[in-house]
Amino acid sequence: MLEAQVSSLAQPSMVPPTRAQNYIACQCPPHPPGAEDSRHVGIPYWKSIMKMSRIQCAEEFSKFSLQAFQSSEKDVQDDETQMVQESVLALSLKSASSDFVVSKALRLDNHTEEALKFRNAPNGNDRDAFRFKIAASRVYDASRSQTAETVRNLSAKWDRKILFGKINSWELLEKLSLTIDASDNVLGSTSQYIHVLQVFEAMVADDVTDKRLLFLGLAHDIGKVLSLFGESDGNVDCSTFVIKPGVAGKGVNSSIVSWNHDEFGYQKLKDYLSQEMAWVVRYHSLYPLLVGGLDELLLPEEHEWKKLLQKLWEYDHLFKNSKHIPVVDAEYAKSIWHEYLPKEIMF
Ligand SMILES: [Fe+2]
Ligand SMILES: [Fe+2]
Repeated sequence: MLEAQVSSLAQPSMVPPTRAQNYIACQCPPHPPGAEDSRHVGIPYWKSIMKMSRIQCAEEFSKFSLQAFQSSEKDVQDDETQMVQESVLALSLKSASSDFVVSKALRLDNHTEEALKFRNAPNGNDRDAFRFKIAASRVYDASRSQTAETVRNLSAKWDRKILFGKINSWELLEKLSLTIDASDNVLGSTSQYIHVLQVFEAMVADDVTDKRLLFLGLAHDIGKVLSLFGESDGNVDCSTFVIKPGVAGKGVNSSIVSWNHDEFGYQKLKDYLSQEMAWVVRYHSLYPLLVGGLDELLLPEEHEWKKLLQKLWEYDHLFKNSKHIPVVDAEYAKSIWHEYLPKEIMF
C-alpha cells in the first residue's frame, strides 16, 4: 500500500529523482496505522522518509512500532504490558543483545497464568509469535550454557569437517533457504537466505559500493548451514558471548568466545578472504566487541577492522523483516559473490 502511495505522491519536481527512486525501490517500512507522530503532523509520511537514509528510516519505523504497540495494549495488565513493551523496545532498538533481552523478558512459561493469556489470545499470529519466542528463549538458554569445554568440543567436531564436499559456491549460499535462525524473534520462520538477501538489498538501496561489505552482507551467516547437519540450534544460532576474557592487547582471539555459526563460517571462508573480512565473519555477533566492551583486548589492526564490522552490524540487524520479500539483482549479487569465492569450493 505504501508503495502505491509513494508512487502517486512522489513527483520528480518534489524530490531529487535519484534519491527518491532509491527510497521508493527500497520499500521503506510502511507507516503503521494509528502511529501518527506529532513531529510529522500535516506532513505526508513519505516526505519525511524521503529525507532519511534507509537506516534512519528503519530506526524511525521502530519508534512508530513501539508507539503503536503501546497504544494497542491498553487492556493488558500493567506488569505484563511493561514486560512485553520492554521486549518490543529491545526489538525496536535492534541492539545486539535484543534477542537475549527478549528471551529473558518473555520467559513466561515460568508463569503459567500469564503464559496462558498469550497462548489463548484470539489472534493466531500472536500465539504463534509467542510460541516462537518461548522456543527461542530455550535456544538462547542452551547457547548461554556453553563452557570452554563445549567450545573445544564443537571446534574439534566441526572446524575441519567437510559438509557438502565440492559445491557450487552460489548454490551453497542458496542452502540457507533451507534453514531459519530459531533464536531470531524478528525473522521468525523466515529463511536465512531471505535474510541475507534483505541485507544485500538494503545495502544496494543505500548505494553501498564497498564490495567487502556487500559480500559480507551475503556471506556472514553461511555457517548456519550447519543446522542442516544435525547440530543443535543453540550451538549454531544466537549471538556469541565471551566465556573467558583474553589478554590486553593480544586480540579478541585471546579470549574464549562461545561457538556458533560465526566461528564455523570463519573456518570455512578464511582461506578465501582478507584477514579483515574473515575477522568480521568470525565475530559478527559478538555484541560486547561492537560496543567497545573488548577494546582493551584489540590489536591495532582490529580497531580498524571494527569499522567494517559495525557497518555490517547495522544492515544485519536493521533490515530483518518477516514479511518482506527482497528484490535483488541476482547477476549483480553473483558478481559480488565471485569477487571473493570461486565457482566451486570445498565446504
Ligand atoms: Fe549471524
Ligand atoms: Fe545475519
